[in-house]
Amino acid sequence: MLTSLKLRFGRLRILIGTVVMDRITKAARLMIVSDLDHTMVDHHDPENMSLLRFNALWEANYRHDSLLVFSTGRSPILYKQLRKEKPMLTPDITIMSVGTEITYGDLMLPDDGWVEILNQKWDRNVVTEETSKFPELTLQAETEQRPHKVSFYVDKTKAQVVMKELSDRLKKRGLDVKIIYSGGMDLDILPQGAGKGQALAYLLKKFKNEGIPPVNTLACGDSGNDAELFSIPDVYGVMVSNAQEELLQWHAENAKDNPNVIHAKERCAAGIIEAIGHFKLGSNSSPRDIADFVECKVDHVNPGYEVVKFYLFYERWRRGDTDNCETYISSLKASCDPSAIVVFPSGAEKTLHECMHTLKVHYGDQKGKQFRVWVDRVLSTPIGSSTWLVKFDKWELAGDERCCCVITAKINVKGSGGSDGYTWANVQQKWLEGYEKKDDSTWLF
Ligand code: GLC
Ligand code: MG
Repeated sequence: MLTSLKLRFGRLRILIGTVVMDRITKAARLMIVSDLDHTMVDHHDPENMSLLRFNALWEANYRHDSLLVFSTGRSPILYKQLRKEKPMLTPDITIMSVGTEITYGDLMLPDDGWVEILNQKWDRNVVTEETSKFPELTLQAETEQRPHKVSFYVDKTKAQVVMKELSDRLKKRGLDVKIIYSGGMDLDILPQGAGKGQALAYLLKKFKNEGIPPVNTLACGDSGNDAELFSIPDVYGVMVSNAQEELLQWHAENAKDNPNVIHAKERCAAGIIEAIGHFKLGSNSSPRDIADFVECKVDHVNPGYEVVKFYLFYERWRRGDTDNCETYISSLKASCDPSAIVVFPSGAEKTLHECMHTLKVHYGDQKGKQFRVWVDRVLSTPIGSSTWLVKFDKWELAGDERCCCVITAKINVKGSGGSDGYTWANVQQKWLEGYEKKDDSTWLF
């Protein structure tokens, strides 16, 4: 396992407890710890626009030196299901089942140290025995019952009384538990030391022990189980505009004078972007908000920005969202080495300039259809003084079909430090297993 990780990243490794974290070798500039349902993911936006805006911002400006942590109430099964349904990025760390399960990296290696801590004063059997005496409680799906989490549904009107009584009974049985009410319907019972806030505190302590505490941390949430994220010291917090009543009430009673926690004006991921701006944690300008990259000269200080911009243009061109204008294609061609080759997943080869020509004739071929492109896991490694090897996943959603290529590209720096832009040299593509495109004639590059 460790060897494969080492090969995959080919980088210095950092030992966090028993688990190896490869990517971050110095303090993260920003660590975002975000809830998923109704925070990162807006279930009322079928186009997923704010999520896609966040993704572009993260991969262009933060992925290379910051940490993305997802913190969800979902079990691993429901979390993986959500990832299949929505255009979500791959986080560096995943906290699941309301802070009772922590995993690292793409491989989701579990933190066994956390499990040991949670075993203290916890007896699942006693919890199920006592809860069975409450007819008001309806057990949630089997997938959501976890080693350190027992979950029910309970009516809003009965929640407070049930929680009080249950807490007394479990105390009498010698257990030290935490009962959390979320979304006006979910009731979770966890060990006292568990929860999203405790999991975050545990991670922060680990980073501190490694001598790399994040420079800034931003917690993001919308419901009851997110409340404790906002009481961890030295953490900025954003409750998205659509936050649930129980969270707003908790805030009014416990944190209303804390200027480091805001209630955003914007919904979901747009609220997260708003908070990055509000607390001045770094750039809050998503490449998706820039209408014209030819007109708007941004400092391309890292290759991630170039990759995001390149595929954003590709999406807009095929959607017919830009003008069908020769200048755009010429400018794109100018950012490609004339001899650069693209190796397709089939093994076929074309020059990048040929690909640009194909792109030109596909202007607007996805107009009026559901068509989105995003990149994930952009990882840039310098090779030589003015060349980067950039590895990333390029996702394409066309109608109901979602496919993905793992791409490795050689990108050269023009001028000094990328301020004059980049040129694309060779590009190698491989299907991500399970996400091959059936008819690959419309996979342009
Ligand atoms: C997620 C989980 C559920 C939990 C809820 C609130 O929806 O699937 O089990 O009760 O979050 O924490
Ligand atoms: Mg939520």
